[in-house]
Amino acid sequence: MTPPPVPWTLRCVETGATYAGDDPRYRSDSGAVLDVIHAPPTPDDHTVDLATLDRRRASADPLDRSGVWRFRELILPVEHEYIVTRGEGSTTLYDSPRVADYCRLDGLQLKHEGENPTGSFKDRGMTVGVTMARRFGVETVACASTGNTSASMASYAAIAGLRALVFIPEGNIAFGKLSQALAYGARTIQIQGNFDDAMRLVEEVCHAEGVYLLNSLNPFRLEGQKAIGLEILQDLGWQVPDWIVCPGGNLGNSSAMYKGLAELKALGLIDRLPRFAIIQAEGANPLYRAFADGTETLTPVTDPETIATAIRIGSPVSFPKALRAVRNTDGIVEEATDQEIMDAKAVVDRAGIGAEPASCATVAGLRKLRDRGVIRADERVVGVLTGHVLKDPDATTRYHQDSLTGITPAFANGPVSCNATLDDVRRAIDSA
Ligand code: F0G
Repeated sequence: MTPPPVPWTLRCVETGATYAGDDPRYRSDSGAVLDVIHAPPTPDDHTVDLATLDRRRASADPLDRSGVWRFRELILPVEHEYIVTRGEGSTTLYDSPRVADYCRLDGLQLKHEGENPTGSFKDRGMTVGVTMARRFGVETVACASTGNTSASMASYAAIAGLRALVFIPEGNIAFGKLSQALAYGARTIQIQGNFDDAMRLVEEVCHAEGVYLLNSLNPFRLEGQKAIGLEILQDLGWQVPDWIVCPGGNLGNSSAMYKGLAELKALGLIDRLPRFAIIQAEGANPLYRAFADGTETLTPVTDPETIATAIRIGSPVSFPKALRAVRNTDGIVEEATDQEIMDAKAVVDRAGIGAEPASCATVAGLRKLRDRGVIRADERVVGVLTGHVLKDPDATTRYHQDSLTGITPAFANGPVSCNATLDDVRRAIDSA
């Protein structure tokens, strides 16, 4: 049975051309990315209020317990029977004085999206993407990935009973992520090329083979990603922070958080927006360059390189949306070197919180923005940590053993070897 028409539409970010909300397309006729535009509330509509959202936090209903579907009226009002959820979201907002000190801030809160079911923020978008895949009645879903999207899609597709095709750059994704794609049963295709090559290829494959694309090019996935920003606001009792800081790769996440909060403001549920700071790796920094040059045009980085493989992306598909997020919030784009990212990671890890390298671009960038005087010490800052510390154990152990080329670990904590005697153990303990 064909599902009924939907109350939202799709709109081209460049030309404003609109398309039916249940058109399974990812781009406009002019080739630009699409936004989901929600129907404006009507006077007799029961649009959601903040008290209802807060009440749902204490509810036992699986949809209320999900940190995405709790906000369902603001995310995507889709029929509940299609929803595929793993109870994503509801992640911790840590107060972290140690990381705040490192950034020379009076205080800092870190939203740990690595606490999602598959260990990254991608689950928030994937629950919505896979839900729409079910609604469209597709059998196979696909994505190109630097690792986390593929881990998430493989899991949600398995739960929904869909076939999953994953395209990854061979040799350039962290071990934890590759193991997840394999374990959850995705057909995992390693491409001789980088993420941008895999991204181009998967779009072609999806068109040619009638497969449903679940990259952040998919407008519904981004609707789910909005929930990070909504949940941060809810964690803060709906008090708007001065800054939200996050890493930028394919730029879906930052774009989505901005969209969600802009919609919340348009509904009159908050009275201002936070400023957005997006941090890119120095070797994969097309948004940083465009922002610094004051241009609206994407000049891809042809050979992106960074130890933070999750954000090793030279041609981000959500570039225009991310630029909009930064411009409309008086925000900023910063870059961080691999050295800065890995030292920041050591600090986040040692604080007992822990995150994968790309996540720690947030902290590295924040420190630089403080040093440059862009962010004041007394401003209220929320940093987003995007992935779990166990995603990339190789980068962590090599940092602590000083075996990463080009990186001098400022906070190394390497293991010590010793004979199995009490005296030697005493010496090993004291040598630290
Ligand atoms: N942090 C982590 C841990 C990521 O996996 C990604 C993106 C980002 C940050 C950047 O987010 O792309 O929305 O700007 N990972 C994608 C993937 C590309 O395939 O898993 P973005």
